[in-house]
Amino acid sequence: MERIKLKLANINVEFVDREQALERVREWAERGMVNVQVVYGPEGCGKTAWLRQSVELLKELGFDVIYLNPVEREFAIETGIKDVKERLLEILRETTDESWVKAVWALIDLGRELIRAGRRKIAILADDIFQAIGLDRAAIYVKGLLGILEYPPGDYDVAITIAATSEGLSRYEIGRHRWADLLAMWNMTREGFKQLYDQLPGPKPDFETVWRLTGGNPKMLVELYQSDWRADEVMRSVISGKMITRGFTTKWRRWLEKAVEDPDILWEPDTPEELINELTEKNLIIYFLPDRGTRLWVGESPPERDLELGIGRYVAWQTPIHREAVRRVLME
Ligand SMILES: Nc1ncnc2c1ncn2[C@@H]1O[C@H](COP(=O)(O)OP(=O)(O)O)[C@@H](O)[C@H]1O
Ligand SMILES: [Mg+2]
Repeated sequence: MERIKLKLANINVEFVDREQALERVREWAERGMVNVQVVYGPEGCGKTAWLRQSVELLKELGFDVIYLNPVEREFAIETGIKDVKERLLEILRETTDESWVKAVWALIDLGRELIRAGRRKIAILADDIFQAIGLDRAAIYVKGLLGILEYPPGDYDVAITIAATSEGLSRYEIGRHRWADLLAMWNMTREGFKQLYDQLPGPKPDFETVWRLTGGNPKMLVELYQSDWRADEVMRSVISGKMITRGFTTKWRRWLEKAVEDPDILWEPDTPEELINELTEKNLIIYFLPDRGTRLWVGESPPERDLELGIGRYVAWQTPIHREAVRRVLME
């Protein structure tokens, strides 16, 4: 499989690692899927990179593939069916927000069109779509993707539909129905992350320091690199970006002070749901991590518990920097 080129800040890097997650795609390519696969995980953990590498993989396996990401305004369309290609290009000609939303909805139809045109192996990869169409529409969208699998307009051999999301709350919205399998993806493993770190030109802090700050999150690696390794600056931007205000930390101080030491305390039954929802909505934590080593994970799962990285058995900070951001505001 050809490894795609990615931009890490201003540097060209090759897609690294994620062998297990790509293996999962190979399995789907072979056996197909019954439900839509919805992948959630920390912001910047590498969902988009994995999907874009999957476009390449699926293409090589003889699939017609459409990939769309309305947030990053990117798409890939690998098919010989000219009509489908032209329709998507037509919609995206305007490149306004509205046209991207339109393209997201058209994606379902275009998938069906590929089957109607006689393609036997098709894949629809919908990236960050819930952000564009609104969380309240997430479930109905997934139902639309499921329709491709269940009520195709013709025969097919294998159809694959995957949606990826960083929106913690979309998982609840989708999880209520049985239309999708919810799969978690975590930050990179130490080995994979090291390969990325090694591709960054020096001078840079030693690997151990970067690992402990980022917990293997490639987006945090980019931000650290771009800030010239000023971890404090990156933390500050998390604080303001996610609106971790003193009002917020004062209101929930009793829980947050303990949660920065051990996120699993948020699993205690007396934790207010409102707090969990706020932390989830701000994309600070992932709540309810599935059992490790199971197929509820795409690729490697995180350690069972690693408090240094902010990972509990059931609840985890998205990265150590997220936790430190909360800790910092608590101390102010
Ligand atoms: N396996 C990988 N190999 C190389 N670069 C990666 C890999 N995974 C992620 N990245 C880079 O890290 C950054 C964040 O990853 P991204 O896929 O956008 O995360 P997500 O979609 O989960 O928010 C991007 O710059 C991306 O190119
Ligand atoms: Mg993404």
